[in-house]
Amino acid sequence: MLTLVTGTTGQVGRRFVPRLLARRQPGEQIRVLVRDEARGERFAELGAQVAVGDLRDEETLGKALAGVDAVVNVAAAFRGVPDEEAWAVNRDAAVALGRAAQTAGVERFVQVSTNNVYGSGRGRPLVEEDESRPGGHMWGAYPASKAEAERALLAMEGLDVRIARLPFVYGEGDPHLENVMAWAPRWAPQQRLHMAHHADVAQALMRLLYAPGIAGRIYNVGDDAPVTTVELYQLNGVEVPAELYDNTDPDPWHNIVDTRRIRRELGFRPIYPSVYTAQEAGAL
Ligand SMILES: NC(=O)c1ccc[n+]([C@@H]2O[C@H](COP(=O)([O-])OP(=O)(O)OC[C@H]3O[C@@H](n4cnc5c(N)ncnc54)[C@H](OP(=O)(O)O)[C@@H]3O)[C@@H](O)[C@H]2O)c1
Repeated sequence: MLTLVTGTTGQVGRRFVPRLLARRQPGEQIRVLVRDEARGERFAELGAQVAVGDLRDEETLGKALAGVDAVVNVAAAFRGVPDEEAWAVNRDAAVALGRAAQTAGVERFVQVSTNNVYGSGRGRPLVEEDESRPGGHMWGAYPASKAEAERALLAMEGLDVRIARLPFVYGEGDPHLENVMAWAPRWAPQQRLHMAHHADVAQALMRLLYAPGIAGRIYNVGDDAPVTTVELYQLNGVEVPAELYDNTDPDPWHNIVDTRRIRRELGFRPIYPSVYTAQEAGAL
């Protein structure tokens, strides 16, 4: 089995690929797609094949998919990019990759998505069947483009698509937990953020990749203990500003997902059930 992984130089991909390589079975191979060849070297040293190119380039897709049995599409553009780029990478390139995979006879396609696709809250934990409902304070080109990519990929006949909806990802030196403080001042003190540690994101993606018979299934990923904005301040060692208590929370369940499906069907159990267990284990 040859698996192509995109987005391997990013926060998720760079921590997922070494785990995938470490647990591969004899005869199993991993190919990473990178835009900058030099950034592929560390994966080559770990035993991966390296394909070089931009996902928006059709030629790259053909090259990257040659001989591939499975795809894990981790790549996305959402960190400080213009909306056009978000649409071009998150929707158009993901759909083009799906079509090329379909033509190439790829057997499994894991699409990495986000729990932001749910949009505005429902006043309860979000379940995979919930339709995307544009709105809410996290809505924009990023979740909209990811939601459209999901829909287009799931509609592709003959392609075995599996969707992982990730929450806020942290751990292992990822600056995300510090960077969240850029947004935290706008959030209500009791508002919660659903999270998953990189080890658990890797666990979830591998479970989606290897499980038989889950074509067309969507899985929420998340730990057991979403944290409040106040806790985010405390975790970062920053004093909670008095003004924070003026912010109101329109929906205490915003972005909180129900994770029963991935537990029940794929056996997912968070290695780090909360950010505090990760902190105690020195895994932040
Ligand atoms: N991090 C989170 O908290 C979080 C939460 C929910 C969902 N997700 C999902 O998880 C996935 C990974 O997120 P991340 O945090 O790892 O993002 P990231 O750190 O921004 O990494 C994005 C990756 O995509 C690659 N990429 C972007 N545009 C590309 C293009 N045109 N062609 C080829 N590769 C391209 C980047 O390559 P370069 O290094 O060359 O730019 C990089 O490897 C995404 O699908 C995201 O939607 C993440």
